[in-house]
Amino acid sequence: MEEKRILCIGLVCLDIISVVDMYPAEDTDTRCLSQRWQRGGNASNSCTVLSLLGAPCAFMGSLAPGHAADFVLADLRRYAVELPHLISHPESSFPTSIVISSASRGTRTILHTNRNLPDVTAQDFEQVDLTQYKWIHWEGRNAAEQVKMIQRVEEYNQTCPAHQRVSTSVEVEKPREELYQLFGYGDVVFVSKDVAKDFGFHSAPEAVKRLRSRVRPGATVICAWAEAGADALGPDGELVHSDAFPPETIVDTLGAGDTFNAAVLLALSRGQRLQEALTFGCQVAGRKCGVHGYDGIV
Ligand code: FRU
Repeated sequence: MEEKRILCIGLVCLDIISVVDMYPAEDTDTRCLSQRWQRGGNASNSCTVLSLLGAPCAFMGSLAPGHAADFVLADLRRYAVELPHLISHPESSFPTSIVISSASRGTRTILHTNRNLPDVTAQDFEQVDLTQYKWIHWEGRNAAEQVKMIQRVEEYNQTCPAHQRVSTSVEVEKPREELYQLFGYGDVVFVSKDVAKDFGFHSAPEAVKRLRSRVRPGATVICAWAEAGADALGPDGELVHSDAFPPETIVDTLGAGDTFNAAVLLALSRGQRLQEALTFGCQVAGRKCGVHGYDGIV
């Protein structure tokens, strides 16, 4: 039987990336090492990684017209990401990011602009044929609408036998109060270092332990913490850890978190244990930091 797909819902944008050795001082005129356009957005980046790892996947997101949109659409197709649920907004502008990627420091500084592109709504999500998917992942954005989408999946799951159920995950990456309601939803909750720090936590194990009371019973909480690796608290309360796998030379950390999420959820969707999934996530994210973009992570 054909493997069911993983659907990622969230942002696709254009990243205009300058790779520099040192992050420039304000009001200076320096040369960068290289510049490129790259498709970006957390959910779209995770799809790239899923595809490279050999998982059939689909992207759902909003699109506005223009050259940037043409570029990202061609790129999504190049990576064989299926696009059955693109929501067109002809009057909106396409979102872009200026990214300064500093190889020597391993940092990526992002200036994002998204003026008026509406996010996918629960109504848009009504069109999704849930029988096509084994896993749906939401990049936390318009949380109240996303809660309704997850509830639709939960209701659907109650009507079908265990092996046909759709697993769900959410990513809470931005330290924004509105997104914190998402902790209560999804089988797996990815929380970023930034969000953990916003809660006053100092490490990934502290974050997953202290956030346990916010997720629904039986859910898994996962927190990656750059060079400290990642920690997770599983459904039975077991705490697991993986060290990071840094490459010999860090060249590009843009999208490392999106890479980690994709690798972890793929491993979990294929029935691997939490420890294996976490280690796999750290390994693939580490490889990503050693290459520009995503080609070469496998
Ligand atoms: C990386 C990324 C970029 C994008 C930005 C949006 O995680 O998705 O591709 O420009 O974050 O916040």
